[in-house]
Amino acid sequence: MSPQVPNVTLDNGVEMPILGFGVYQIPPEETEQAVSDALAAGYRHVDTAAAYGNEAAVGRAIAASGIPRDELFVTTKLWIQDAGDQAARTAFERSLEQLGLDRLDLYLIHQPYGDYYGSWRAMQTLLGEGAVRAIGVSNFHPDRLVDLVEHNEVVPAVNQIETHPFHQRRADQDLMRELGVQHESWGGFAEGRNDLFTNPVLSEIGEAHDKSVAQVVLRWLVQRDVVVIPKSVRAERMAQNIDVFDFTLTDDEMARIAGLDTGESLFFDHRDPGMTKTLGGVRIHD
Ligand SMILES: NC(=O)c1ccc[n+]([C@@H]2O[C@H](COP(=O)([O-])OP(=O)(O)OC[C@H]3O[C@@H](n4cnc5c(N)ncnc54)[C@H](OP(=O)(O)O)[C@@H]3O)[C@@H](O)[C@H]2O)c1
Repeated sequence: MSPQVPNVTLDNGVEMPILGFGVYQIPPEETEQAVSDALAAGYRHVDTAAAYGNEAAVGRAIAASGIPRDELFVTTKLWIQDAGDQAARTAFERSLEQLGLDRLDLYLIHQPYGDYYGSWRAMQTLLGEGAVRAIGVSNFHPDRLVDLVEHNEVVPAVNQIETHPFHQRRADQDLMRELGVQHESWGGFAEGRNDLFTNPVLSEIGEAHDKSVAQVVLRWLVQRDVVVIPKSVRAERMAQNIDVFDFTLTDDEMARIAGLDTGESLFFDHRDPGMTKTLGGVRIHD
C-alpha cells in the first residue's frame, strides 16, 4: 500500500496533494521512467514546466499509468519567453498538447519577469473557461505578489518559492496566508546544498524518529502547511520521500529546525538585476 497523501484546499476550493513529485533537471529521456516509478510509489501530483523540456515524457508516463485523470494533479509553468496575453495562451495550448491532457490542474507563471500581467489576464480567462482548475505564480517576492493581487481579479492560488531549512520564508508565508495564497516549496532539500543531508540537527532529529534527513525536512515543511515536491530519480528515495505521514515532529524539534534559517537564498535572488537579465534572455523554443 502506498502512503496516503493529504490534500490542502486552495482558496478556490480545489484540492491539491500536499506532497508531489518534481521533475526539474531530469533529462527528457529519463523522465518517463522516473514519473512511472513515482506514480507506482503512490505519487499523484507531478510538477513540471515548459522550461524543463520534459512535459511530453511526463505525459507519456501519465498515459501509460492508466490512473484516472481526476486522481492526478498536474502542474506546469509558463516561461518568460511566452509572457503576454496572446503568447501565454499559445504556450498553454502547447503545454497541454505536450502533456497529452485536455485540462491542467495548476498553471504557474514561472518567473516574475516580462509581461506577466498580460500572462495573468490570459490565465484568468483560461480559468474561467475551465481549461485549468487553478492558476498561480512562482518566485514572486511579497511586493510583486501584492501588486499582482491589487490590480487583478483572481488572487494566485499558489506561490511556488525556494523554501528549505536554510531559507524558510516565514515572513513570506505569513503574508501569503493573509492573501489566501498557498505556499509551495521548490528545492525542499536545497538540492543537497550546504550539506543538508548530513546536517547534525536534522540527522539527530531523524535518528529520534528512525527517519532519514530527507523525511525530516519534508515532514517539517508539511507541518508548516507548505506543499512539497521532492525530486529523485531513484525509486527507493521516491518511496522514502512520500513516507512522511506516520510521524510528527515535536514543537521543540520544529523550533530547532527554525534555528537553521539563514534568511538567504542558496541559489539566487530573483530581485538581482543581472539574473533578471540573464533569465529574461533564456529561450526555450523558436
Ligand atoms: N519554480 C521554480 O523556479 C523551481 C526551481 C527549482 C525547482 N522547482 C521544482 O521543485 C522541485 C524540487 O526541487 P529540486 O528538484 O530543485 O531539488 P530538491 O528536491 O531540493 O533536491 C533534489 C536532490 O535531492 C536528491 N534526493 C532526493 N531525495 C533524496 C533522499 N531521500 N535522500 C538523499 N538525496 C535525495 C536528488 O538526487 P537523486 O535524484 O539522485 O535521488 C537530487 O539531487 C523540482 O523538481 C521542480 O519541480 C521549481
